[in-house]
Amino acid sequence: METDVKDTVAINWDELTFSITPTRSMYIAECLEGGTWESKGLVPYGDITLSPAACVINYGQGLFEGMKAYRTAKDNVVLFRPDENARRTNSGCRRLCMPEVPEDLFLDAIRMIVRDNIDYVPPADKGALYLRPLVFGSGPVLGVKPAPSYTFLIYVSPVGPYFKEGLAGINLLITEDFHRAAQYGTGGVKAIGNYAGGMYPGSLAKAEGYSEIVYTDAREQRYLEEVGAANFFLIKGDVLATPELDGSILPGITRKSICEMAATEFGYTIEERQVAIEEIFEADEAFCSGTAAVITPILSMTHRDRKMEFCGGEVGEKTMALYNGLNGIIREEREDPYSWIEVL
Ligand code: PLP
Ligand code: COI
Repeated sequence: METDVKDTVAINWDELTFSITPTRSMYIAECLEGGTWESKGLVPYGDITLSPAACVINYGQGLFEGMKAYRTAKDNVVLFRPDENARRTNSGCRRLCMPEVPEDLFLDAIRMIVRDNIDYVPPADKGALYLRPLVFGSGPVLGVKPAPSYTFLIYVSPVGPYFKEGLAGINLLITEDFHRAAQYGTGGVKAIGNYAGGMYPGSLAKAEGYSEIVYTDAREQRYLEEVGAANFFLIKGDVLATPELDGSILPGITRKSICEMAATEFGYTIEERQVAIEEIFEADEAFCSGTAAVITPILSMTHRDRKMEFCGGEVGEKTMALYNGLNGIIREEREDPYSWIEVL
């Protein structure tokens, strides 16, 4: 299936992966020294120029967000809880000494860029338009201190599944050799600096045939934290357990939504608490969640020389029921009792 996108290339929607496809436009706003955010609006998608002394490339003062615009069964284009991304952006801005982005400016920019690139939103069953808001210290510094000026930029790209296995499920390796984040660090916000450190452990796991690494807590290495860049869940009977937000785990918007939906509609008791590695060996099912990952079933987890296969290495039914519940809302295949969807 191919569609001609107005002034650009033809996109093969059947072969979308989680990778960059240039689109028509990107959004830019700037906050100059001591000033407030000023929208520059949409500009053609392309390279930007930066001072070599920009704080973001010297000291990592920056954060990103991840959101999706979905085409639905009703042929609408919808956003999922964009106000939550606006709020999380600002909690990150505070942590990283950057000026907060007014929520209205953030949301207007999101709507503007999706509308301008609407023909890049894949058909309902083929993927989504991924939105990547960035806030970063673009002004020059030499000493370690906040930048004098900032950029808020959003670019978009049509994407397919984050894990190439998609709904077929993934096999994970629990690591004790590397940590993603420690308590009181920056793991609880989407600081860009949190992600480069995961590339090496992730590549080691992939070289051994695993889809991704699972991090444990940096203090005791007894408790599960996150699956690369996604939150972690275990199902045991009618309990849905997920690691509590202790500052080192990203407060996922998908995680929060699953907890609410699973308690309200699926009768689960939600336990946000420390989840010990040992618990996987007693669990019924496990999955991870995120904007990119949506709900991805976990087939197996390996810890040292022990491997746990959930449901005999098959995708679990309870996980799929939760996936269908969430995806049904996102794709307007069912009612949205929580008012999570914004139709553009
Ligand atoms: N954990 C990490 C480290 C992430 O980068 C993400 C992605 O945003 C998530 C979890 C999932 O968060 P969300 O559901 O808001 O996309
Ligand atoms: C997301 O789920 O949107 C993320 O930010 C994960 C990512 C690092 C691709």
